[in-house]
Amino acid sequence: MSTSRKTDSTERRPTPPAPGDRDVALARRHLRFGWWSLLVFLSLGLALEGLHGFKVEWYVDDSNATRRLMWTLAHAHGALLAMISIVFAATLRHWPVCPSPVRRIASPCLLAASLLLPLGFFLGGLFVHSGDPGLGILLVPVGAVNLLIAVFLTARGVGGH
Ligand code: HEM
Repeated sequence: MSTSRKTDSTERRPTPPAPGDRDVALARRHLRFGWWSLLVFLSLGLALEGLHGFKVEWYVDDSNATRRLMWTLAHAHGALLAMISIVFAATLRHWPVCPSPVRRIASPCLLAASLLLPLGFFLGGLFVHSGDPGLGILLVPVGAVNLLIAVFLTARGVGGH
């Protein structure tokens, strides 16, 4: 009796099919992008550490606080977004029946956000005008919107089964 109930519940549980070729290719692209991007932004962290170590005024002086903040944000967001790309790849492999908006829209939005957010912070800190970040900072809100779209579509795709 109890055995048949157990079998019934197992049968009713949705089992995601094996990842299709497109899911595997997309997951690979995000894994490759994520790991290389992580290397770039951890290297930026190392470079920032070097600027501290050599007490480079152009970076550590109080009058350059905006540059320091912007480059710290570029480093932190770049590293975190790289890890989100790796998590996205893992999501595709574990839950390969993601609906097509995830593949068609979320994936490019996530890649765009991973470039625009850190690049915006970096450029904003490269050209500082009287304590204000340079125009490159305008890339940041564009990247943020791309990121919100990617996360929303992925959350909806995963929750829809
Ligand atoms: C996944 C790995 C990492 C993440 C998520 C990360 C994140 C962060 C965050 C959030 C901050 C800002 C902290 C604050 O101001 O309160 C920061 C600052 C910093 N990180 Fe990282 N970090 C990572 C790895 C590294 C590595 C490997 C290095 C260098 C070897 C590094 C070097 C630095 C330096 C030097 C700062 C301070 C920059 C400044 O204030 O001028 N980070 N990081």
